Amino acid sequence: MKKVLAMAMAALMALSLVACSSGETASSSSQAQGESASTSAAAPAEVANKDKPLVWFNRQPSNSSTGELDMSALSFNDNTYYVGFDANQGAELQGTMIVDYIKAHADEIDKNGDGVIGYVLAIGDIGHNDSIARTRGVRQALGTAVEVDGAINSDPVGTNADGSATAVKDGTLEVNGKTYIVRELASQEMKNSAGATWDAATAGNAISTWASSFGDQIDIVASNNDGMGMSMFNAWSKANEVPTFGYDANADAVAAIAEGYGGTISQHADVQAYLTLRVLRNALDGVDIDTGIGTADEAGNVLSDEVYYYNADQRSYYALNVAVTAENYQDFTDSTKVYGPVSAQLDATAHPTKNVWLNIYNAADNFLSATYQPLLQNYDDLLNLKVEYIGGDGQTEANITNRLSNPDQFDAFAINMVKTDNAASYTALLSQ
Ligand code: BGC
Repeated sequence: MKKVLAMAMAALMALSLVACSSGETASSSSQAQGESASTSAAAPAEVANKDKPLVWFNRQPSNSSTGELDMSALSFNDNTYYVGFDANQGAELQGTMIVDYIKAHADEIDKNGDGVIGYVLAIGDIGHNDSIARTRGVRQALGTAVEVDGAINSDPVGTNADGSATAVKDGTLEVNGKTYIVRELASQEMKNSAGATWDAATAGNAISTWASSFGDQIDIVASNNDGMGMSMFNAWSKANEVPTFGYDANADAVAAIAEGYGGTISQHADVQAYLTLRVLRNALDGVDIDTGIGTADEAGNVLSDEVYYYNADQRSYYALNVAVTAENYQDFTDSTKVYGPVSAQLDATAHPTKNVWLNIYNAADNFLSATYQPLLQNYDDLLNLKVEYIGGDGQTEANITNRLSNPDQFDAFAINMVKTDNAASYTALLSQ
């Protein structure tokens, strides 16, 4: 009898030990790094897909109509996070950058001298929080914003030659003692016929149409991103010397500042790409999630709070934005260079190679393919992660989810959805 009891006790203890160790791996609580790295090295084969580290990046799980965060996707398991940037801070910077430019170029800004500063706006994706924030930021700074239920209307106006559109209003701006009217002459979502948003080619066509209707009434071209901004710059505004403003600090846009591109915003993709892979690395190592982020790791990698912050309620890391203009663009010419303070190689014994599945929603997206992915590829080596990169078509989630047929073969996942509402298409595959 005694023997049976002792055996039962031993079995119970063994069980609780297993529960405890897998709990530690999944919850990434604060343990000494060395210890836990060896714990997790043996674990992956047994971890269920639903418990593997998951990071959403660039497109935050959220309702595309209301912007409300999808907290069930953001807290899918204990090791789920989002990595992006502070959309409102960046949007405000973009608006201010444009107003500052107008003020500094008071003499030449109103091309046809009609007292109206006319601008056109390329909108990326009307259901994407970053795009909405940027549209609002530009309208807010230029005085053309109209509020609906306490929030700035971010709808496209189509064309607004006479200032009668209801989604915006005419603003006023005082420059050197003279008061100008500011008018959003036109804006539209740059979506192609197949459904891809933020579409640069569509923006290039739109500017040609707008230029033929508005001609020299267009004093400023604003864009939710550089992909569309550069397409408009190359198609029309460069030759017509109309300052064009984008967002992302892609290398071609930064270089174009020397040729009259008005400016752009760096969303610190070098910090975001690091964070995207670093949270996975930490979760796989079973160490405190802040390791190598707010707290220096053993190689010295650490980020300061000048470049990012973490919002625990939203389980989201946000990089901070910086304006890139004629004054400082020389510092931003290489958009794929890793960020110095987090560029030290991790030791391969303490941080053994792990397999990560990662997708880019649209292989043709300028920012993600020309800036973000090359950065990820630089960091994956430093963090000893073997990443399988999947490029989507920007139109259908299935194009990507079809290629997540073997989640068992990966230790962690990094996901960039086509549409921000669609997180469940991915988590369903991990829950099977
Ligand atoms: C970038 C855009 C990009 C979009 C894709 C945004 O943060 O600024 O350039 O097209 O992400 O989701």
